[in-house]
Amino acid sequence: MDKNTENGIENNYILAIESSCDETAASVVRNGREVLSNVIASQIALHTLYGGVVPEIASRRHIEKINQVICQALSEAGVGLRDITAIAVTYGPGLVGALLVGVSAAKAISFATGIPLVGVHHINGHISANYIEHNDLEPPFVCMVASGGHSHLVVVEDYGIYRLIGRTRDDAAGEAFDKVARAIGLGYPGGPKIDKLAREGNPDAIVFPRARVAENEYDFSFSGLKSAVLNYLNSCEMKGEAVCRADVAASFQRAVIDVCVEHSMAAVREFGYDRFAIAGGVASNSALRAAFEEACAAQGVKFYRPSPVYCTDNAAMIGAAGYYEFLRGVRHGYDLNAVPNLSL
Ligand code: KG4
Ligand code: ZN
Repeated sequence: MDKNTENGIENNYILAIESSCDETAASVVRNGREVLSNVIASQIALHTLYGGVVPEIASRRHIEKINQVICQALSEAGVGLRDITAIAVTYGPGLVGALLVGVSAAKAISFATGIPLVGVHHINGHISANYIEHNDLEPPFVCMVASGGHSHLVVVEDYGIYRLIGRTRDDAAGEAFDKVARAIGLGYPGGPKIDKLAREGNPDAIVFPRARVAENEYDFSFSGLKSAVLNYLNSCEMKGEAVCRADVAASFQRAVIDVCVEHSMAAVREFGYDRFAIAGGVASNSALRAAFEEACAAQGVKFYRPSPVYCTDNAAMIGAAGYYEFLRGVRHGYDLNAVPNLSL
């Protein structure tokens, strides 16, 4: 039977590829919302030794893994290239050498088969991860994106159409998690380690600042918070006082969460939407999810969040975004290039 029409219903299969940072990932997604496979080759073990992602090492590992990951995604989904409607690939933002591997693989398959090529913005992918497990979610809604490189507050006006209403002025939320984790000796990747340790700490033990940006109430600033944590650690050392790392982790995390929740809920109120979503690696944080759950319930707003596996980098989210890009006619040529600082 032709997979592309089952019981008279048209099926669109997107083969999605993601290689913007340290995960080599491929996925097959049906009709934008149903994940048939989601293969992720993580490089965490490789970069742990260096305390963070080493771009050149990441690119080389992507090259080694990409074909295998794509083949596995097709075979786990039970489809062949002949069933694929379009190939979606992250072309920015991210590490240029890493992005190039996915983009080159996608272009090569498209060139060899004639399957249309659709370049996808990585953050569009993160936001679209919310469509995967929530069939009822449709734009418009407000979304907070918190990843290693971005902290954005956006109004999702339509599929793939975003109005940026707030952004970070300095560090991204995930970057702050990673830097604080390093400072308290947790190492890379910092976010999940702080998440775990914070469960044993007191979030009210230390009062860290909650920054406001005067010019735009929806903008974020996390570098002052990071410095406050570093100052606290230094002063404890100078005074010879023991540091309770769990309390530092919990208090820092609470400060990040308070700011995220406050800004997001203010935006939901002002823009009048009854749906709110979170996205990006930091959205997998257990305390942050619980805080948003509570805040949305208190405000009578429906709260959406992807499962943790769809919050951190993966290709299924690129497949979800790519499907809607495909539907609205986006096609890229073989001149598609990696754009490390691509704006939303
Ligand atoms: O979205 P993502 O996987 O990659 C980027 O696009 O940047 O986000 C990675 C970021 C890292 O900074 C990582 O520390 C953070 O997300 N992260 C977390 C958690 N899991 C990942 N931060 C807080 N709590 C977590 N559980
Ligand atoms: Zn990401």
